[in-house]
Amino acid sequence: MPTGAQQCCAPTSVKGLVETIRTIAWMKEMARQARAESRIIGLVPTMGALHEGHTSLIARAKQQCSPLIASIFVNPKQFGPNEDFAKYPRRFESDSEKLKQAGVDALFAPEAAEIYPKDFSTYVHVEGLSERLEGKSRPGHFRGVTTVVMKLLQIVQPHFAYFGRKDAQQARLITQMARDLNLDSEIVMCPIVREADGLALSSRNAYLNSEERKAATILYRALDRARSELAAGVRDALQLQSVLHRAIGAERLAAVDYAEIVDAESFEPVVRITRACYVLLAAFIGKMRLIDNMYVETKSPGFDELMFHL
Ligand code: PAF
Repeated sequence: MPTGAQQCCAPTSVKGLVETIRTIAWMKEMARQARAESRIIGLVPTMGALHEGHTSLIARAKQQCSPLIASIFVNPKQFGPNEDFAKYPRRFESDSEKLKQAGVDALFAPEAAEIYPKDFSTYVHVEGLSERLEGKSRPGHFRGVTTVVMKLLQIVQPHFAYFGRKDAQQARLITQMARDLNLDSEIVMCPIVREADGLALSSRNAYLNSEERKAATILYRALDRARSELAAGVRDALQLQSVLHRAIGAERLAAVDYAEIVDAESFEPVVRITRACYVLLAAFIGKMRLIDNMYVETKSPGFDELMFHL
């Protein structure tokens, strides 16, 4: 048990809800006990508004870890001044029920002042990778992400931490950070979960009205067109980009932010598809900006036969 002043805010246990830890001291203590018992700790970091994408991370994590910790923290430092921090969906009670049902052992849900006290002044920044694509469209975003993820990894010190491939650049950055800073946590990237019509699950889909919701499937449909072109033998990145632009341009409510084919490691644009890459899309549907991607790899030398992860 944490000592002195830190004894306050002990974890709360309410029937039907997951045990909730509010302070860093209690979270560290729980993790310390689990390590002392040689247990394998898993962490699923989230910003709440949980959907099946999150529960798929939890299901994957449960295969490897016990205890499994989820975190909910709407991280102010990863939102730009004109972004949706204030209105980001917050659904603590229903999220807590979902976590309980999914078999999460404890929820770490600190207040912002717990994570960022007044004199907070240290940031983690992954150079280069953070400036491209999402980083270019959302300046400062990745600095906020890597800083908070670093803090969560430091506090919980999980053996495994799970992230969705929907945010492929984020997952790549976090893997780079863990490698560069010699963290003991293994970063596990999990597949995208989609609605029946192909729309990738995202907490931000909740903002779409019914017309926009229909239009939003254009991201998946555009990626699927790129898949057909690649399967038919197209390897030229410019040709694929124009397929993506044409597909999205045909949807009245959609506007492309970027449509790029990038190397899966460096996230630098490629000219021809000759190695593992991502087809990345960011598009506005009305006012809402959505992202999606397809991971392309091959098992055959020469990249003749491709494998698509959509
Ligand atoms: O992907 C998210 O939900 C957030 O960026 C993360 C990783 C929880 C950090 O705040």
